[in-house]
Amino acid sequence: MKIISIVGARPQIIKAAALSRIIRQKYSDLITEIIVHTGQHYDENMSKVFFQELEIALPAYNLNIGSDSHGRQSAGMISGLEEILMKETPDYVVLFGDTNSTLAGAIAASKLQIPIAHIEAGLRSYNKQMPEEINRIMCDHVSTFLFTPNNKAIKNLELEGFDTNQHSSYCIDKPGIFNVGDIMYDNFLYYSQALTKGSSNGKLPNEYILATIHRDHNTDRPENLQSIFKALLDISNQFSIDVKIPLHPRTLKCMSQHLSGGLLKKVNNSIYIEILPPVSYKEMIDLERNAKMIMTDSGGVQKEAYFYNKPCIILREETEWVEILETGMALLCGANYKKIMDAFRAYDEVKPLNFPKIFGNGNAANLICQLLIQHYNDTKPSKHI
Ligand code: UD1
Ligand code: UDP
Repeated sequence: MKIISIVGARPQIIKAAALSRIIRQKYSDLITEIIVHTGQHYDENMSKVFFQELEIALPAYNLNIGSDSHGRQSAGMISGLEEILMKETPDYVVLFGDTNSTLAGAIAASKLQIPIAHIEAGLRSYNKQMPEEINRIMCDHVSTFLFTPNNKAIKNLELEGFDTNQHSSYCIDKPGIFNVGDIMYDNFLYYSQALTKGSSNGKLPNEYILATIHRDHNTDRPENLQSIFKALLDISNQFSIDVKIPLHPRTLKCMSQHLSGGLLKKVNNSIYIEILPPVSYKEMIDLERNAKMIMTDSGGVQKEAYFYNKPCIILREETEWVEILETGMALLCGANYKKIMDAFRAYDEVKPLNFPKIFGNGNAANLICQLLIQHYNDTKPSKHI
């Protein structure tokens, strides 16, 4: 059976690593995987580094689409992907998450009637101002396999009219919906074992805040970017705590445009704030596990904060990872200066912190392979008539 996995943005390459690893370890005689990169992310530290570090086969195709407006970027991807899918005629197309690369893959594959397996299906922030929310909804509604990371995602799909009890004959009109757990948790378990104990970047554990910022809602609105950096600066100064920020290239560009000269200077001259280029996955999880607290607007980093038992200040107004909120181990603060300051104080003082297990068993990629193989075997006779 032949599958095409479509990646494009950093988190998709990381998620794809978990699937590729299992295929390599357990199913190499049954599944041939071809990786296609849309080129949505292209800087070495946003793309290539992950293929090398996570030992993923290099993409057989790279569309080199690069950055553009949503419409132009997605259109270029759809056109390029269509050509590849027509040539390769895979049995399944695997899509990850909610980026424009996911959406483009969904449109290209569904129009060619190639069954789609959507990993991280069913997530909803219920905020359609997020481009990702539109991508999620559209991809789920043309997929044949909806692999959800948790039960909440199943409930979201039920609210949209999906029959979550479909048990056979899956197709685009009657998709199979399976709660397989979180594929990023697979990676967490696998790579955490390999980390050596000890300090991160010369810092002792719990001595610094780790922050990431890249959502358009924060980067492209000067008042929001300003407010977040002011909060980071004030927390670091008032509590004498370091802040490490591996910064997305989008945010780096926006800082010089949107931060006032005075604030930019203070951030750049701060003895506490360290702005880093994007780091590799292993460097990132090392930074996460040793942080005192994590502040982020990233979906993946919210989860990883939880995996590493770190309280998380979510720099968004809402999240699709609501289970984390329900545990009390993360707080929604948006870009609100006061909320961020209050949340920091709260987590600085409140003890003990408690992180019940809510992301499955770390077996998502294996279950996904088994379900695809089963479907392939069930439908194979008709395919070869
Ligand atoms: C994209 C996804 C977002 C995901 C994020 C992961 C969409 C709509 N957004 O956001 O869901 O959370 O990836 O990181 O698909 N840039 C570079 N070098 C690169 C890549 C990007 O400099 O290698 C800069 C460019 O200025 C570009 C900007 O970042 O215009 C935004 O890149 P883009 O891929 O459009 O969106 P992200 O913000 O990365
Ligand atoms: N990540 C990384 N290096 C960084 C920042 C993030 O390896 O400098 C990893 C992080 O550990 C997580 C994933 O990238 O696995 C999250 O991606 P991102 O925040 O870009 O996107 P999102 O999850 O919000 O879509």
